[in-house]
Parts: sequence; C-alpha cells; structure tokens
Amino acid sequence: MQNGGGSLIQVRNLNVTYHSFGETKQAVRDVSFSLNSGETLGFLGESGSGKSTIGWAILGMIEPPHEASGEVVYNNFNVLAASEGKLRRYRWKEVAMIFQTAMNSLDPLVTIKKSFVQLLIGKGIADKEEGAVEIAVNLLRYVGLSPKVLDMYTFELSGGMRQRVSIALAIACNPKILIADEPTTALDTVNQFSVLANMRKLKEERKIDAMILITHDVEIQMIMADRIAITLKGRIVEEGSKEEMINDPKHPYTRLLLQSVTSANITKIEAATGNNVKFEDGKDGCPFLAQCPYAMPKCAESFPEPKAFSKTHTVYCYIY
Ligand SMILES: Nc1ncnc2c1ncn2[C@@H]1O[C@H](COP(=O)(O)OP(=O)(O)OP(=O)(O)O)[C@@H](O)[C@H]1O
Ligand SMILES: [Mg+2]
Repeated sequence: MQNGGGSLIQVRNLNVTYHSFGETKQAVRDVSFSLNSGETLGFLGESGSGKSTIGWAILGMIEPPHEASGEVVYNNFNVLAASEGKLRRYRWKEVAMIFQTAMNSLDPLVTIKKSFVQLLIGKGIADKEEGAVEIAVNLLRYVGLSPKVLDMYTFELSGGMRQRVSIALAIACNPKILIADEPTTALDTVNQFSVLANMRKLKEERKIDAMILITHDVEIQMIMADRIAITLKGRIVEEGSKEEMINDPKHPYTRLLLQSVTSANITKIEAATGNNVKFEDGKDGCPFLAQCPYAMPKCAESFPEPKAFSKTHTVYCYIY
C-alpha cells in the first residue's frame, strides 16, 4: 500500500545541531515530512547529509549538549518535548530503530540472550527470563538464526548474523514503526538480499505500520521504498513517490544522484560542472549551489520554498 493511510509521524521544521569538541555543526536544517500508514519512506543522500540524525531525532535520542528543535509528533505525542519516562515507553514499543552499526548497538559485554532478556523484561513484554528466552528463540528463528546464537557474544557473530540479531531486537517489542539505518550496507550481496527479503515481509507478518529506510544505496531504495526523500547537507531537497523520482526527478542534485544508479554508490559524488556562484557568509542558500549547473544569484541568498508538482512530489529549487 502506498500512501494509503493517514499520517503516523509528522516532523515539522526539525533542526539538529551538534556541539562537539568546541565545534558547532548543524546536521539537520528545517526538515519537514510525514510518515504515512502502510508505506516505506526512504531517505537517500550522500554521507553526512543528516540521514541518521533524522532517525535519532525521531526516537528522541538527541541529548544535551546537542540540540533538536521543531516538532516530531507521534499520535499527539511530541517526542522532542517528552520526559525521559515517556520516551522510555515510546522507544522500542512504538518506534524502534535498527542502528547503522550493529556492532555499536549491541552490548559487547553480554551474551545475545542477556540483551534479549534485558530488553523484553525491561519493556514489560516478558515477566520472567524463561518467557523472554522463548520469545527470543522465536525472533531469532524468524530472522533465520539458530537459537545457539543466544549463548554467543557480539564479537563471535559474522556481520550478517549481527545485522539479523539487530533486526530481531528491533522487532522484539512489536513496534508500530521501524526505522532501518543502512541495514545492509556492511553485508555481502547474498546476505544483503536475504536481510532485505526479511525486512520486506516484516510489514505484513509483524504488523509494522510503516517503515523508514535510510540508505545511500540508490538500488536498494528503488527495491524497497514507496516514497523517497532526497537529503543534502541537512536539507530535504526533493520528495516524491518512487515512480516520480525514477521517471521525473526535478532537482539537479536528484538527477545527478539517479545517474549514478548503475554504480549504486553515491557516497562520493564528483562535482558537476558548477556555476561559480559563491555562498555569501551568513546567507542560507541552496546546499547544491556550488555544484549546480543552473545556479543563479538568488540560490545563494535563501533556501527555496517548496514547489509541489503533485500531491506527493515536492521540490526545493528556484529553477521551477
Ligand atoms: N555526535 C556527533 N557529534 C558531532 N557531529 C556529528 C555527530 N553525529 C553526526 N555528526 C555530524 O552531523 C552530520 C550528519 O551526520 P549523519 O550521521 O546524520 O549523516 P548520514 O547522512 O547518516 O551519513 P552516513 O551516510 O555517513 O551515515 C555529519 O556532518 C556528521 O559529521
Ligand atoms: Mg548515517
């Protein structure tokens, strides 16, 4: 189902700024979008464009000294303004995330069994270890792993196994929404396809209402996503149904991205010809300015207002 149901999450004017080692970095800039019931929404963009940060903000994981402003609203619940207690009831049970680096998200000091038991008892899904283990065995089987994995530590698992364990943990509390951040990037081709196949059946079999898929891999977005948002330097520059993006990409950056479909790796996009329009300090122009063959002086002045081409297709560019 594409865009079939109502909106489950509304993100409005999201800004995220990191403060690390005396430096300030605005990673997400005035981003707004909705996640609709039934869909898989893909975030596609080069490395550092803010994709993971958007995912963390939806889970309410941006903590001081870092700052998140704007709104992330789930069922009248404003995530960015919520107390830690309310967030604990929201994370994993309502919205769960498969983190980009499974190695980092799994506790290296405990067995996989302990990770499941802690999560399932902590979230009130099971009340005793026995029950938690039974649920864990079923989850592992579901993602194609033997129950033997329960007695293993993260470092004993292959990359593919770790990723499956992360998926099993993410769905353990029956979340309604799943955010998958580069779920297959670290895997070889065979494992990639089997993890993707696993994820495709989640919506039906595990009653996941909607999914956000973050990946810089154009081909995977083309297989998995119903709708795609293109990110660049913390901005969304275009958003549309997959068909609109394939058949009629509007933003010069999207066009450049989609040209690279064959190489399926847009991490390092070489600059297009460029138009030598220089950013003026303090101005808040288009993030593609320096590489855009169509750049005009006003592109350096301010970020364009959205221009809608259909109910689903929106572009932020002055050429239209
Ligand atoms: N904890 C942090 N402290 C400081 N800067 C950060 C932090 N996390 C991310 N950033 C910066 O914020 C920007 C966006 O990072 P983010 O990880 O969201 O991008 P991404 O699109 O997910 O990239 P990738 O495709 O490489 O995963 C980058 O410039 C990154 O260096
Ligand atoms: Mg990332």
